[in-house]
Amino acid sequence: MAYNIYTPWGCFLIQILILFAKSSAKVPAVIVFGDSSVDSGNNNQIPTIARSNFQPYGRDFLGGVATGRFSNGRISPDFISEAFGLKPTIPAYLDPMYDISDFATGVCFASAGTGYDNATSDVLNVIPLWKEVEYYKDYQTKLRAYAGSKKANEILREALYLISIGTNDFLENYYALLERRMQFTPQQYQDFLVGLAQNFIKELHSLGARKISLTGLPPMGCLPLERTNNILEDNGCMEGYNILALEFNGKLKTLVSKMNKELPGLQLVSANAYDIFLHIIRKPSVYGFEVTEQGCCGTGRFEMGSLCDLYNRFTCTDANKYVFWDSFHPSQKTSQIISNHLVKNYLAKFL
Ligand SMILES: *[C@@H]1O[C@H](CO)[C@@H](O)[C@H](O)[C@H]1NC(C)=O
Repeated sequence: MAYNIYTPWGCFLIQILILFAKSSAKVPAVIVFGDSSVDSGNNNQIPTIARSNFQPYGRDFLGGVATGRFSNGRISPDFISEAFGLKPTIPAYLDPMYDISDFATGVCFASAGTGYDNATSDVLNVIPLWKEVEYYKDYQTKLRAYAGSKKANEILREALYLISIGTNDFLENYYALLERRMQFTPQQYQDFLVGLAQNFIKELHSLGARKISLTGLPPMGCLPLERTNNILEDNGCMEGYNILALEFNGKLKTLVSKMNKELPGLQLVSANAYDIFLHIIRKPSVYGFEVTEQGCCGTGRFEMGSLCDLYNRFTCTDANKYVFWDSFHPSQKTSQIISNHLVKNYLAKFL
């Protein structure tokens, strides 16, 4: 049976629905920590080569602006924020174009190239995770001054925190450099990182965060850059990296259930992006993609950051046909599909 919204009764129902939707809008802000998978432009403000604030990055973003997102358009936190009825893009905390009135409903502390491990952020001289937390403390102070203590504490408590980090610890640090490999086996290094993740979440909790989404590793053996290196196997996925990612994600999942039992009021969610991402890579046509082995920018085989710019003339014309935008990061369309999946399957309980 269908109600006609033009009858008084239909109108009344709509009013009730709107009132209900308003009173149950439980997430007042989205607050983001992590690496390039979620950085919306903090690295523009620090001296590092891990940047993307130039074309062709951002060419499908509103106004074609290269914001520093490692994408042709928006990234996951933007889509998640929008799904929660908040703004469609989350500003970077270090971006001088924005202030606390913008950050009150969404803010990003992430930094491309960073990791759980301090040694990872040192590689490209980006913001270490502990410093993202320092910025978050600074944000809390500003938010209290802006909104008053009571309101600010409510925002900080009810906000949805998104954490996406870890790929660089393995690909930019452990497997690229010797130091950590001399100290740890891959399994020991995973456990070391899980310990750092635990400390990080504990600290967020002690600072007032409750609703936290933790995303683990993507199927990182299928990133175009890793395929390019996999010459012996005809540029197939590096299965070893995918197995490692699954192992690490499993450990994070165990950590999540443990911490939910230990920390009062914590609602920590393990938001698994691995399976949907791998499905997109294996069955691209199901999602309307045509290319999965290479990224859109440059030749698609090795470029990211400034190399995308340098090899711009090879860049594809329609990034919507590509699972990957550059050799390391998903296209906007892939991010949108993954975000919808995360909201529907893991974050809906916060809606
Ligand atoms: C990372 O560096 C910060 C700042 O120097 C330090 O406080 C922290 O203990 C370090 N973390 C680890 C695991 O070494």
